Parts: sequence; structure tokens; C-alpha cells
Amino acid sequence: MSLEKQIKKLNEETSALNNPELIAKQRQKGKLTARERIDILLDKDSFVELNPFAQSRFNDFGMDQKKFPGDAVVSGFGKINNRQVCVYSQDFSKIGGSLGEMHGQKIINAIKMARQTGCPMIGIIDSGGARIQEGIASLDGYAGIFREMVKASGIIPQISIILGPSAGGASYAPGLSDFIFMVEGISQMYITGPEVIKSVTGESISFNDLGGASVHALKSGCAHFISQTENECLESVKKVLDYLPQNNLENPPAKNSSGTDNLCPRLLEIVPQEEGKGYDMKEVIKEIFDPDSFFEVQAGFAPNSIAAFARLGGQTVGIAANQTKSMAGTLDVNSSDKIARFVRLCDTFNIPIINLIDTPGYLPGTDQEHKGIIRHGAKILYAYAEASVPKISLILRKAFGGAYIALASKELGYDKVIAWPSAQIGVMGPKQAVKIIFHRELENSKDPIELEKEKILELSETFLSPWQAAKLGKLDLIINPQETRSVLFKLLESMLNKRESKAPRKHGNIPL
Ligand code: HXC
Repeated sequence: MSLEKQIKKLNEETSALNNPELIAKQRQKGKLTARERIDILLDKDSFVELNPFAQSRFNDFGMDQKKFPGDAVVSGFGKINNRQVCVYSQDFSKIGGSLGEMHGQKIINAIKMARQTGCPMIGIIDSGGARIQEGIASLDGYAGIFREMVKASGIIPQISIILGPSAGGASYAPGLSDFIFMVEGISQMYITGPEVIKSVTGESISFNDLGGASVHALKSGCAHFISQTENECLESVKKVLDYLPQNNLENPPAKNSSGTDNLCPRLLEIVPQEEGKGYDMKEVIKEIFDPDSFFEVQAGFAPNSIAAFARLGGQTVGIAANQTKSMAGTLDVNSSDKIARFVRLCDTFNIPIINLIDTPGYLPGTDQEHKGIIRHGAKILYAYAEASVPKISLILRKAFGGAYIALASKELGYDKVIAWPSAQIGVMGPKQAVKIIFHRELENSKDPIELEKEKILELSETFLSPWQAAKLGKLDLIINPQETRSVLFKLLESMLNKRESKAPRKHGNIPL
């Protein structure tokens, strides 16, 4: 065949990848096509597609694989904001985006390339799961993907974007990712679909109520970010990458900053003097960190805690904070999971962590005990104690009991612990403490109410006061709240070159 004819064949084969009928089928569902999604996500003309002509070798059950070149997935590499990424995008218009052997191999190739070249891996999922007609070969396709993902975990950021169904096996690729993005009304992620559920349990449920974006953002905690449209979702993927290094050997990208010396007088207004009064910790964060840099992770899940990226003096940081507006900022099973996972992510990718603490402690109650607050709460302890990135804690008001240990104890491994003069640090709140240690005196007193008040005041001013903690060397500084931004930045800057070596071992055994 002449070169001219060969080039003609190449052009024909390439244009056959974009079958107008299949494109129309996808549009009918109100969704972008697999290639459109990549085009929106990546820098213009940066995408290089790999294995576009790969094809499944399974033609049983009436399947004609010639009709589906590329095997229901587009994969390759390109750039986002001029930084390399590897990407795959499943094509639901071809056999429901189902995953067979070759489809799996293309994804495995992309993940391997991302790991070996140290760049983020982004998967766009729109799939009916394991391709039924390919049987064990499709199951093994998933097995290979999962193994590659685990190998890449902690080396490169792995992001899953759900833009359609993510059914069955398709859900565990997101499940193994660092971040899951979903779109309201378009994304549905579940292990067994409504039909199977109905046949097994008799329960009727819609796809959205089973595994829609809101369900995973609010209830299951599987989704980290949700959006209203596909375009908005793809934009927020770019945004999160802006806080992350390309891999675990790099530092996160820093931006220019307009300075950190400014006072923050509004902090005194935001945080009420009355210790029982809640406030919006997000307002505090916005006041302290660089303008418009607050980017929250899992915003709808466990709202009693906040996990977020932000910048301080241009440096990327991870913030873990108590949200006093919700359940008084207590730590429960869900917030423990949320914070622990975020801390491990930050540690993996060299992102310093700043804690903002105002919490009465772990949430008491039978419900929490029976849900395993010991097991879940231990995750926070483990994650922080293990993390070797700079760790700075600021105690605004309450830091009681286990929550003090988890979030602010230098003995647990915090590098710098500072407090506002309003801080209270103790085994428990003064009211509960007085009832326990002065119960005899209160029982025998002629005026137990007055005595209780006196003892609460005494305890608050002596044992709970930050001055006591400072005297014992447990606090590095007590600061004027207005100077929070500048002090935190100076501490952060001083810690940026922190290095800590670890004893060799296979791996620890974090409570899961
Ligand atoms: C083969 C599949 C498929 C699959 C969909 N298709 N899923 N083909 N294997 N897993 C095909 C359909 O037959 C159809 O082919 C086309 O894709 C589009 O599917 P529709 O059903 O017409 O689309 P829609 O109505 O939008 O419904 C989408 C869907 C539904 C909800 C995802 O297709 C569905 O329920 N599929 C099965 C989902 C599932 O149970 N997957 C789990 C597999 S087991 P035609 O020829 O008509 O266009 C698994 C292993 C678990 O993944 C491992 C756990 C770790």
C-alpha cells in the first residue's frame, strides 16, 4: 500500500473513532462525550491519545467489536495549566462504557505511565461496570486497575470524576482514589443497582436516591466535591490540582502573596467571648488565610469538622478545623474519618497542616460508642502522629480531652502549638469536671449552686487556662488573636524545610 493510501487509512480509522450515531446517543442523555470531557479538562491541543485503535478480542453474545474501536474508553496524557496529567474517559455510548479486558488494559497503561512519570492520574467514569459478555476477563480488568491504583497511591494524586453511572466494579476505582468528583443529576455510583436491590430485598429505590451526588456528598462521605454541571465539575478538578504537587517527591505549588503582616481585628468579632456560643469557623479561616484561597473538601459530610486546602503567604496548606456551628464542633465517627484521611493526603503530598481548634472533645453517647468511635477516633491519632509534614495547631477556645491530644498535643507530634488567651485546655469541660472531683463537697454544701459556680471559676482560671499550659511548656506561644495570620505564617515558614526520617518497616497498621 502506498504511503498516501496508508495515511488515508489512518485518517479514516481516526474519524471512525467519532461515530456520529454514538455521539448523538450520548448527547440524548444530556451528557458530554468522552472526548469533549477531555478537551474541556485539558489545555488546548495538549491531549495525546494512546491505544485509540485497541479493540476487544471478545465477540461472543452477538458483540461486534469492530463497531467499537478504542473499546469504550479514551486514554492518554496531556496538560492542565501546563502541568502533565494522564487521563482516561469512559465512553458510555459504546457498550455502556462497560469494562472488558482491553478497556482495562488501556486504563492500566495510563496509570502506570502516571506513576512512572510522576504526574496526576484522572479517570472520568461513565460505565455500567464489568462487561458481562467478557466474564472473568472483565473482572480481571478491574483487578489489574485496582492493583495499579494501590501501587500509585501516595506517589501521585489520583482523581475520579463520575459523569454518568459508576456501577458495580466501576465504583471501586473511585473508591481507591484520593478524590471523587460528582455532578448533581448526572452521576450515580453504587455497587449493586436498584434492580438487584429490589430482587434481593424488595426495596424500591431510584438511582439518584441510591447513589446520586448528594447521597455521596452528605451521607456516605464517598464524594469529595459536587457540582451542578459537568463544566463546573471539570473546572473544580483543575482547581484542586492547583493545590497539589505532581507527585510525592515535589512540594506543592506556591503562589505570590500580598504579605502576611496585616492584623485581623475581625477575628475578635467573629469568635464570641461567651464560651458556649457557636460561630462559623469558615469565617475565621477566610480571615486568617490568603483571600479566595479557601477550598473545602467533603464540605457536606461531617459538617462538625472542616477539611480544606488554603494558602498562607502563598504557601499551600491543609486546614483541619472544628466547626462549632455544627454539633458544637465535637469529633464523631464521620469527622474522625474525614480528618484522618485528609491528614494522610496532606502528609503524602508534602502539604503542611494547620489545625484550628475549638471543640469539647469526642462526641459522647451510646450511638457513637456502638458505631465505633474508638476505632474511628483512633484514626485521627494515628494519622497525625504518623504525619511528618509541618504540623501547627492553634487553640482558639476549647481543647478538651481526647480532642486536645489528637489535635494539639506536642507529645503526639505537633511541631508548634499556639493559643489565644481565650483558650481552655483540660481533661474535660469545667462543668463536668467540678461534678466529678467536687461531688462530695457539693453534696455536703448548704449552697451547692454557689459552690459549683466558685469551683468552675477556680478550675477555669487555674487548670484550664492557657497560662498553665504555657508554664508547662505545652504551648509555644499565647498570641493576640489579631496577630494570628502573621504568627501562623512565621511558624509555617520556619517549618517549611522540616525533615523527619522514619524507621524502616513494611507499613504501620492504621485502624480502619
Ligand atoms: C455489558 C452493558 C453493561 C455491562 C450496560 N451495558 N452495562 N453491557 N456489561 N455491565 C450496555 C446495555 O446492554 C446497553 O446496550 C448499553 O450498555 C446502554 O445501557 P442501558 O441499560 O441501555 O443504559 P441506561 O438505561 O442508561 O442504564 C445504564 C445502567 C444499566 C444503569 C448502567 O445499563 C445497568 O444497570 N447496567 C448494569 C450495571 C451493573 O449491574 N453493573 C455491575 C456489573 S458487575 P445496548 O446494546 O442496548 O446499547 C461488576 C462486578 C462487580 O461490575 C465487582 C465489584 C468489585
